[in-house]
Amino acid sequence: MTWGTIATWRMAAEGINEASKLLKGKGTADDAVEKLVKTVEANPLYKSVGYGGLPNEEGVVQMDAAFMDGDTMAQGAVAAIENVLHAVSVARLLSHQHYNSFRVGAGATKFAQLSGCEMTNMLTAKAKTEWQEKLQKEKNEKMSSYNGHDTVGAITLDQQGSMAAATSTSGLFMKKDGRIGDSPLSGSGLYVDSEVGGAAATGLGEDIMKGCLSYEIVRKMAEGLSPQAACDQTVYPFVHKLKKRYGRVGEISLIALNKQGQWGIATNVEFTFCVATSNEEEKIFMANPGVDDTTVISTVRQ
Ligand code: GLY
Repeated sequence: MTWGTIATWRMAAEGINEASKLLKGKGTADDAVEKLVKTVEANPLYKSVGYGGLPNEEGVVQMDAAFMDGDTMAQGAVAAIENVLHAVSVARLLSHQHYNSFRVGAGATKFAQLSGCEMTNMLTAKAKTEWQEKLQKEKNEKMSSYNGHDTVGAITLDQQGSMAAATSTSGLFMKKDGRIGDSPLSGSGLYVDSEVGGAAATGLGEDIMKGCLSYEIVRKMAEGLSPQAACDQTVYPFVHKLKKRYGRVGEISLIALNKQGQWGIATNVEFTFCVATSNEEEKIFMANPGVDDTTVISTVRQ
């Protein structure tokens, strides 16, 4: 039976491996996508997700995450949550609630604590040093956010035909207290419908949310476009539109997977991503914007 998973950035390789094991063994799309994202969140080497994520300008790691079940359309999300090891698991817990399913700041952190989620100081010594150095460097300059682009976004399809999607990020380094990006926002950071497919985003949240790009890709797949065509025909026209009408555009990359296990991606910068399906071994790919609003994809590692 068909199964598949795709995730943003090469940092997701280990998570893709974990998710693949679950999906091969008839595990659920929900469990697989949570496991994938948790694997990235737990790795202190990744500076933009979970433990080891770089802090805001006040030296606090504030994370955004979301979870969506493509069968029921249930969604849960957290934003500016602090001191929790797995923000994605808090989002999944919230997806079981009809009311109060998207919580921010202290309310989100309190919910995680009361739900028995693992709490920890997310600011590693390495991230603290990097923050202090940045503060020092910019002492006499205007603080500027790093134009980061490293959210983990993932989509899974299980052998029962169910799909799920999830995201997790610590957002922009040196962001303002309480700044929230696209990652927890339904339709922007992620969207999935098991009868069609799913999409997830990474890049500059402030620009991604101007286009509701994940929803738009799923909508185009529902009209019959392949995941690659849906990504190309959503991302590149939007990038042109934003350049023309807003005057500038940040980094934007989208991944998609449909219910047949076919995948696609589009990006306006060099971008790595990971894939595994019942038809193809785990691989890390690199994508670049090509000519005529197409995407050039090459293999980085099998
Ligand atoms: N895409 C992640 C963020 O902007 O926070």
